[in-house]
Amino acid sequence: MCGIVGYIGHHEAVNVLLDGIKRLEYRGYDSSGIAFVENGLLRCEKAVGKISELEKKLDGNNFSAHIGIVHTRWATHGAPTMENAHPHVDCNNGIAVVHNGIIENYDYLKAKLKREGHIFKSETDTEVLAHLIEKYFQNNLEMAVIEALKEVEGTYGIAVISPKDPQKIVAARRGSPLVIGIGNREYFITSDVSASLEHTRDVVYLDDNEVAILTMNHYETKTMQNTPTYKKVEEVLWNIDMIEKGGYEHFMLKEIHEQPQALRNVMRGRVEGDRGLVKLGGLISCERELREARRIVIVACGTSWHAGLVGEYMLEELARIPVEVEYASEFRYRNPVIEEGTVVIAISQSGETADTLAAMREARHKGAKLLSICNVVGSTIAREADCGIYLHIGPEIGVASTKAFTAQITVLYLFTLYMMNLKYSHTTTSSDMVKVIQSIPDKVQTILNMEKEIVELARIYKGSENALYLGRGYNYPVALEGALKLKEISYIHAEGYPAAEMKHGPIALINKDMPVVFIATRDSVYGKILSNIAEVRSRGGRLIAIASEGDDQIREKVDHVFYIPKTADCLTPILSVIPLQLLAYHMAVMRGCDVDKPRNLAKSVTVE
Ligand code: G6P
Repeated sequence: MCGIVGYIGHHEAVNVLLDGIKRLEYRGYDSSGIAFVENGLLRCEKAVGKISELEKKLDGNNFSAHIGIVHTRWATHGAPTMENAHPHVDCNNGIAVVHNGIIENYDYLKAKLKREGHIFKSETDTEVLAHLIEKYFQNNLEMAVIEALKEVEGTYGIAVISPKDPQKIVAARRGSPLVIGIGNREYFITSDVSASLEHTRDVVYLDDNEVAILTMNHYETKTMQNTPTYKKVEEVLWNIDMIEKGGYEHFMLKEIHEQPQALRNVMRGRVEGDRGLVKLGGLISCERELREARRIVIVACGTSWHAGLVGEYMLEELARIPVEVEYASEFRYRNPVIEEGTVVIAISQSGETADTLAAMREARHKGAKLLSICNVVGSTIAREADCGIYLHIGPEIGVASTKAFTAQITVLYLFTLYMMNLKYSHTTTSSDMVKVIQSIPDKVQTILNMEKEIVELARIYKGSENALYLGRGYNYPVALEGALKLKEISYIHAEGYPAAEMKHGPIALINKDMPVVFIATRDSVYGKILSNIAEVRSRGGRLIAIASEGDDQIREKVDHVFYIPKTADCLTPILSVIPLQLLAYHMAVMRGCDVDKPRNLAKSVTVE
C-alpha cells in the first residue's frame, strides 16, 4: 500500500526515481509525487492519477539532481488530490517527507503544531511529520527525525530529505517495510525490493524502530536511541525478468500462466515421491510443538484466507487436527482463546498485511507458536514467525492474486503430509499422495491450453451485472475465490456461496440474467451439487459448470460446461480455480478495465 523510493548516488536522480516507482505502482496508484535537491533547492512535483501523469509533468526537463524521494499513494487520510499527494513539505520548503502507514495521533499533533504557528496545506496525517521534523531541525537531519518520531504514535516507513542537510536521505521504520539497496556508489531506500532490483540485488532490511542514513559513499543504521546497529547484507534471489510482463498484456495473465512452473518451484527439493516424504526445512525449529499441536488456527485476509479454508479441510480430513480459519482482522479484536498446544499459521503472499501481522502479534501475546506461509522473503510476517514455509514463486505483481493462491494450497497440502508424517510416524503418508501433487502442474497446463473456451464464455457473459458462484466441500472456497476475482477486476457484483446455503437467501436473486457458476467436480458431494443445479435450473438461472473430464451427465443439465482433469478431491481447488481466474481476467479486459490496477484496491494492505 503506497510505494516509496529514495535515491542518492552518481546517476541523475529523477529518472532513477521514476523508473523505480513505476515498479511499485501496483501498490497504490491514485496520485504520486517526487522531491529532489537541485542547486541547493528543494523541488517538488505532484500529479493526481497514475505515475504516467507525473512523468508527463516532468517530461522535457533536464535534471541534475543526485538525491531525491518519490511516492505513489493509496489514499487513507484525505482524497487523492494534488495537495494530499506526497511528498509533504514543511512551512519553508526545507524538508520533504514520503510516508507509508498511518500516524494515529495526527489530530493532536496537527492542532499543537498549528498553535505553534505551522501552516498546513493538506488533509493528510503525513504532513505533521514534515512540520515536526522542521520543529526539531537544528543542523542535522537524522537527529531531527529521531526527535520528531518520539512524539508519533502509529505506523510508518518514511524517507526524508532536506536542502539544509543536503547530502543524505534519512529513513525510519515502524510497522511499514523499508529496505536499503546497496549499489556501486549509490544507495536506495525502497518499500519493496523490486524498485531497486534493476541496480542491485544486495539489500539490508530495516527492522522496526530503526533509522537509516544514506549518503553518497556509505549507509548506516541505528536505533531510535542513536545506537548503531550492524545488519546483514542479503542477496535478493528474484531477477529483473520476474518483475516484467514478459510479452503478456498484463501481469495478471502472466501470473496465471506461470502457475505450472510456480507449483513446480513450490515443490522443488521438498518432496520425494518414491518414499512418500515431505521435507520442510523452515519448520525444523518448531518440530516438537507441531508434533504436539492440539489445534491449529489459520489467520489471513482476502485470497490467502480462501487458501486457508482449503487448508482447514485438508488438515482436518487427512491429519485429523482441529483447525479454525479466521479473518485476521476479526481474530485480532475479539479476545480469542489460545490454549496450550495451539499453533497459529499466518498466510500472506506479501508478508506485510497489517491485519494479519496484528493477529499474529495477538496470538504471540497469548502464547501461541507462530508459523508463516509467505511469498516475499524477508517480509515482516515471515521474520516475526517462529518458523515458516516460503512459496518460492517469484514476485506476484497483479493486484488480483492468482499464482499465490494455488501455491498456498500446494504448501498447505505439503504441510498436511508433513503433519501426517510427524503424528503418525511415516505410516500413513503414502508415496501416492506425494505423486498426486507432483502431477498437478501438468494438469494446470492442460487447463491453460483450453483458454480459448473461457474467452468464448467471457464474451457471452461480459455484459452481466451480477454473478453467483457455488461450490461445496473443497470447492466452496473456490466459489469464494472465483467471485472475488470477478468483482475485484471487472466490478461485476459477484457472490460466492456454499451451494446448499443458496436456498437460504441467494436463490431469491436467480432469474434469466443471473449467471450461476457451479464448481461441480466428481467428488464426494457431487450428487448433492447436482440437486443444487436442478434447483437453479428450475428457476431460470443461466448455468455454467466447472466439471470433471468425462462427466457427460452434467452436459445436459447446464448451459455451458468447462472440463478439468481429475485429481484427488483435496487438490481439486488448484485446478478448478484456473478457469475462474481466466474468466474474471477476460471478462474484465472485455469490459475495458485495468486488471493490474483495479480501482480502490492495493496489492499489499499495510493499514488496519
Ligand atoms: C489485498 C490484495 C489481495 C490479497 C489480500 C491479502 O486485498 O488485493 O489480493 O489476497 O490483500 O494479502 P496477503 O499479501 O496478506 O496475502
